[in-house]
Amino acid sequence: MRATTPAPWSLLRMRQSPHLRDLVAETTFGVKQFVQPVFVVEDLRAPEDVPGLGDTRRLPLASALDAIADDADRGVRHFLLFNVPADKQDDEVGTEHLARTIATIKQAFGARIFLWIDVCLCAYTTHGHCALLDARSAIDLDRTLSSLDRIAVASADAGADGVAPSDMMDGRTRSIRAALDGAGHHAVPIMSYSTKFASSFYGPFRDAAASAPAFGDRRHYQIDVRGRRDAIAASVRCAGEGADLLMVKPGMTSADLIAPITRATKKPVGAYQVSGEYAALFLLAERKLVDFDSALVETWHVLRRAGAAFIISYGARRAASLGLAS
Ligand code: PBG
Repeated sequence: MRATTPAPWSLLRMRQSPHLRDLVAETTFGVKQFVQPVFVVEDLRAPEDVPGLGDTRRLPLASALDAIADDADRGVRHFLLFNVPADKQDDEVGTEHLARTIATIKQAFGARIFLWIDVCLCAYTTHGHCALLDARSAIDLDRTLSSLDRIAVASADAGADGVAPSDMMDGRTRSIRAALDGAGHHAVPIMSYSTKFASSFYGPFRDAAASAPAFGDRRHYQIDVRGRRDAIAASVRCAGEGADLLMVKPGMTSADLIAPITRATKKPVGAYQVSGEYAALFLLAERKLVDFDSALVETWHVLRRAGAAFIISYGARRAASLGLAS
């Protein structure tokens, strides 16, 4: 469809051909700028669907290896591992399953993939909070930080390429950096969930990771959605503590913060398109109200246009086939 008499000042003239649109497109990116989350669940016999997340399932380790192999063939290079242990505890955090999982994945794929590990306690604790709590259910920061350090170091020892703390505790990035360095893992980067809001959009994830809080919510430690200053300050602080990569989360509802955080920190800032954001598109498509792939790509371009250096999405593995640059 063409406009028959474009005015001299027409904006339609440059939109009429795909070649013209491509020539001046400002958001070009490809599968290499994506991170695919993977859930590995201890003692699981067979893959389990997660409502809303489509082909991102809860997986036993053997199935995760198959999924990563397929994804790697399609060009996905970055994976974010969510380790879901069978035993939940409140004082000691067990890292055996995590270490075994990481070592097995890295043995299988070596340098073909870059394996990030989500570092948090919510999948490990019986109460599902991201911290260890004291007898009065207050956050025990010292014990929490040392558990996060242990998870990070155990991950790096097992061969993880990078760690991604998502807990939002004060000082965790500095603490993890020091712990990694103390264990000789100077080269292991930290991708911090630096601006992470208390959000309603984490619902499907909490099913996947069995990490819903048993009481209360996460507003004591995640950022209030009304707090623009706090949201920027949280990333600035993480950058100062040694984070190599920063992130806003949920990505779509935080798009306005990507540019100011990039300006303030001079660090690459990614966007995590979280489970509820992804599931919203998935369920709309299931009801035939949108075309899933074009809606998905649209949201990615928006995140990119907002300045996202990289995107974490449950649809990362689709990026290769969706006509993005390679
Ligand atoms: C763990 C963690 C969460 C997510 C990533 N890491 C859940 C939460 O903080 O409640 C959410 C990811 C998603 O919804 O896709 N702390």
